[in-house]
Amino acid sequence: MEPIWKPQPVQTLALESECDEVLFGGAKGGGKSDVLLFGALRFIALPSYKALIVRRTFPRLKELIDRSMTFHALNGTYNRSEKQWKFPSGAQIVFGHCQNDGDELNYQGHQYHYIGFDQVEEFTENMFNIIAACGRKVDDIPVYIRCTANPGGVGKHWVKRRWIEGKEPNKIYATETSLNGKLILRKQVFIPSSIFDNKILLEKNPEYLAFLQKLPEKFRKMYLEGDFNTEDEPDQLITSELINNAKKHAKESAKLGDIYLGVDVARFGDDSTEIAFIMSNRLIKIETYKKLDINQISQIIIRKIREEKIKPFNIGIDTVGLGAGVYDIIKSNGFSVNEIVSGSSPITLRGDYYKFRNLRSQMHWHFREKLRTGIFSLGIEDSEFEEEALSVKYEISSEKMITIESKEDIKKRIGRSTNKHDAVVYACFVEIIQNNFRPHIY
Ligand SMILES: Nc1ncnc2c1ncn2[C@@H]1O[C@H](COP(=O)(O)OP(=O)(O)OP(=O)(O)O)[C@@H](O)[C@H]1O
Ligand SMILES: [Mg+2]
Repeated sequence: MEPIWKPQPVQTLALESECDEVLFGGAKGGGKSDVLLFGALRFIALPSYKALIVRRTFPRLKELIDRSMTFHALNGTYNRSEKQWKFPSGAQIVFGHCQNDGDELNYQGHQYHYIGFDQVEEFTENMFNIIAACGRKVDDIPVYIRCTANPGGVGKHWVKRRWIEGKEPNKIYATETSLNGKLILRKQVFIPSSIFDNKILLEKNPEYLAFLQKLPEKFRKMYLEGDFNTEDEPDQLITSELINNAKKHAKESAKLGDIYLGVDVARFGDDSTEIAFIMSNRLIKIETYKKLDINQISQIIIRKIREEKIKPFNIGIDTVGLGAGVYDIIKSNGFSVNEIVSGSSPITLRGDYYKFRNLRSQMHWHFREKLRTGIFSLGIEDSEFEEEALSVKYEISSEKMITIESKEDIKKRIGRSTNKHDAVVYACFVEIIQNNFRPHIY
């Protein structure tokens, strides 16, 4: 019998990999979706085999389902309402999607031997972690996570961090990776593919290559070359270049100076409280505290004042939500720290060219200006902070009014709170608050 599908050489590399996780692709048209779909067939002769293929939205998932209709030739039976193929052995391939934050919980407790994420950069890291945790070994059938991606998308930073950054393509890395809150050793590989690896498409549809070649440079690099380093968006407040420059500046020797603290207090149960430490315009530390009540957080800050000799008015605390309680407790202990209310009016500063929607917009813009003018340096490596900084978007209206995306909107988009970045932004802004509201005492 003729096979229903034959892999092309790079596709074979991906299919034959024994790594726990493979990221395949980068560029467009490299045969990513086909690999993911037909790769799911590997063990369909085994009765207990179960595979899951996911896409973020249903309309895009439907394209994969339509392509899977060739499975009829393997005597598969498709159940439309369950979105599930059953093969004569009893093996199953199921299709799923995960559109909204929280939908990933619908997968909790399921078990699959093969989980294929098509365009994994469309998923938040939390969605990926929860769904990938369904790949649990329960019998002799190996468990494989297979993903495809293009540069960009809401997941661009975590995808890059997990499979690409600091790694060579096609080389296998055994990495300690967090899965469902547990650290486990996993073999991972990134196998690049591009339209040039897909001779069938080049022959069938040469216009597609012409279309990719005519894209503006930024998109041509992303989609034709699969370059994961060019994924900054036009409305991104802080670009990768600004972050990289801030890292380079940190190589210059540090000046001693006053330490400023920015405190972002957890607003919800599963959020963390972050305290950023800045000295002479250099980020020197971020402390993370989880599951603390307002008394405990207040005591930590009071200890910093008493024991680490941080000046109270060098501390800025976000007082939206639980932060208000923290601020009150610290004040009632006699320490006059700065209250930061993101939604309040901006501070009027002489010489400001722009107007700001609110204090939040002003603080974030001020931080970006520090990066842009090379004043600020990043003295620590913190990939979470960097990801958060890179995810903030902004708008400038025709009246030169700058609006920074709200914390809630960012959370909806990327699936987590930007607490570390906010703490750093507050710490940087404390000086401005001091200069405008308080006389210099020290
Ligand atoms: N081994 C193959 N045999 C036959 N056709 C193939 C093969 N691999 C890919 N193709 C065809 O090439 C086209 C592009 O492949 P595919 O959709 O898998 O690429 P992709 O990388 O997922 O593209 P996109 O970036 O648009 O999602 C499709 O029409 C697909 O069916
Ligand atoms: Mg595809």
